[in-house]
Amino acid sequence: MTRTPVNVTVTGAAGQIGYALLFRIASGQLLGADVPVRLRLLEIPQGLKAAEGTAMELDDCAFPLLRGIDITDDPNTAFDGANVALLVGARPRTKGMERGDLLEANGGIFKPQGKAINDHAADDVKVLVVGNPANTNALIAQAAAPDVPAERFTAMTRLDHNRALSQLAARTGVPVSEIRRLTIWGNHSATQYPDVFHAEIAGKNAAEVIDDQAWLADTFIPTVAKRGAAIIEARGASSAASAANAAIDHVHTWVNGTAEGDWTSMGIPSDGSYGVAEGLISSFPVTCKDGTYEIVQGLDVNEFSRTRIDASVKELEEEREAVRGLGLI
Ligand code: NAD
Ligand code: LMR
Repeated sequence: MTRTPVNVTVTGAAGQIGYALLFRIASGQLLGADVPVRLRLLEIPQGLKAAEGTAMELDDCAFPLLRGIDITDDPNTAFDGANVALLVGARPRTKGMERGDLLEANGGIFKPQGKAINDHAADDVKVLVVGNPANTNALIAQAAAPDVPAERFTAMTRLDHNRALSQLAARTGVPVSEIRRLTIWGNHSATQYPDVFHAEIAGKNAAEVIDDQAWLADTFIPTVAKRGAAIIEARGASSAASAANAAIDHVHTWVNGTAEGDWTSMGIPSDGSYGVAEGLISSFPVTCKDGTYEIVQGLDVNEFSRTRIDASVKELEEEREAVRGLGLI
């Protein structure tokens, strides 16, 4: 049976995440080894030539699933019929720059892109915002797309989730495949809260296995939360291959589901669960099935976790106020 190709729009296609991402999408890792894709690449005019070069390389891979590549600097064309939209293009944080500084620089990009998604994307569009500040950029795009169900707009905290898995594996000597039910709460920023209290390491409660509150508070949490800044410091540029990998994981899980008994972390519009103000795009523990997701309900939130979740949510509220003030939502 010949399947209709899925239209995948990628913004910032000529950037470093774009370069690490496009080949994996075209090879079938985003949606599945039997799902043909058509790529729509959006760039600013200065990025078009480099995007064309990347498209030549994609052609040269002769990927059996790749059914076409369109390159444009017009958001209306790029999002036309989009089933999956990966909003990567943004101004990356550079040394010494705080995330708050990015709000104004990037806010203007995501409003017109949200409107273009509203007006032109396919009815089943799923949106992942990677470009920082990812949660609030997703909020801006979502607010500009009133005809698209709000829950289709998500922000990437899967990189933080994967970083936390890796840190726990290194500490305990247990492979990441045996660590489940970890949660990233809040913002994709230094205030995020990687929560191990419900996690399991080789079937045992993670907090009990680690049994070292000081390590959790003073090493694990800051290492995960500041990993992005540490990579910028070391590489002189923000994470790219690991960010592309997390984007692949995020969409693959959203479309194909979480494993039985496990969950993942996604930045999604809050429905008020766990005291997170409704409408904020905040990271939660979610299960995915049949292309939809649900917040994991009923988890006990202890005092240690409550304080940290509240701090990250407060930052999201401040970012929402800031973009409101700028007329972006
Ligand atoms: P990059 O500078 O290498 O690439 C960005 C690309 O976006 C450039 O080619 C630029 O021309 C393009 N671009 C800029 N404005 C655009 C617009 N309006 N429309 C289309 N394209 C546009 O940056 P990068 O390293 O690829 O990072 C991209 C973003 O991802 C940054 O904001 C970075 O901070 C963020 N990021 C997020 C995470 C996460 O976990 N959420 C992780 C790593 C990086
Ligand atoms: C990361 O987590 O690696 C990035 O979001 C860092 C950044 O600010 O670009």
